[in-house]
Amino acid sequence: MWMLWKGDLVQKSDVSVSPDDRGYVFGDGIYEVFRVYNGRFFEKAAHLDRLERTAHGTKLKLPWTMPELSELLDRLLEKEGTQESILYMQITRGEAPRIHQFPKDVEPVLLAYCKDYPRPVAVMENGITAVTLEDIRWLRCDLKTLNLLPNTMAKQEALDRGADDVIWHRGGTVTECSASNVMMVKDGVIRTHPANHLILHGVTRAFVLKLARQLELPALEKPFTLDELANADELFLTGTTVEVTPIVAVDGRPVGSGKPGTVTRQLQRAFAEAIALV
Ligand code: PDD
Repeated sequence: MWMLWKGDLVQKSDVSVSPDDRGYVFGDGIYEVFRVYNGRFFEKAAHLDRLERTAHGTKLKLPWTMPELSELLDRLLEKEGTQESILYMQITRGEAPRIHQFPKDVEPVLLAYCKDYPRPVAVMENGITAVTLEDIRWLRCDLKTLNLLPNTMAKQEALDRGADDVIWHRGGTVTECSASNVMMVKDGVIRTHPANHLILHGVTRAFVLKLARQLELPALEKPFTLDELANADELFLTGTTVEVTPIVAVDGRPVGSGKPGTVTRQLQRAFAEAIALV
């Protein structure tokens, strides 16, 4: 397996992480998960834009321009030669003895690799179940940082409760899921939380909203409550790894008819058509 490590393409066995790496010690770093379909990146520029915003928001000074990073990722993809995969990339603030403040003169540490990742066709066909849980994360959920303990804990809790994922809410207002955004449909209108500091601005979320506009499906970026969620006709997730995945039950109760809905199916079809063009 090839890895991009500090700017070079090396084998995984040649990567050695320093015990002083601030990503390892503090979770002090940022990341992106890119999607590859048909051997080509999907929405690469949008992911790079978000990476740049996250770097800015965490005051992590990148030694690469976005075009330089983009080219490095192209080299990795070409070397690995995968057709349907995800490309994981993280950049930590660097290696330095453990102090809380940002150390001076550290070099950010870049790691990236591709992993084969077939489209989750069966899951997208049948849908998943979810439980609702209070969103206890910090107030900069728009930054895609390595600090994912609340996300991993929430996902585990969902599994422990016999569900597939979690739908988070803050005081009754639905935000997002452990690694995806959530949208509801009521009377033909799509609703999703606005892209502010309380959710990650999903690349797939934006893409699906664009598809909705093209299909002339009304969509509102307006928060909704747990009560509205409980009365939704349809619910679905959006994300790089899940595309458009129906949620068919929440907290043990069926969503709408308990089957993936027509708006969800329309968006899934439009998404599949769009990626065939990538
Ligand atoms: N997660 N919300 C959260 C909390 C996420 O972690 C993600 C993505 C999304 C969806 O964003 P996008 O559509 O850009 O993938 C929303 C990635 C896939 C992960 O951490 O594995």
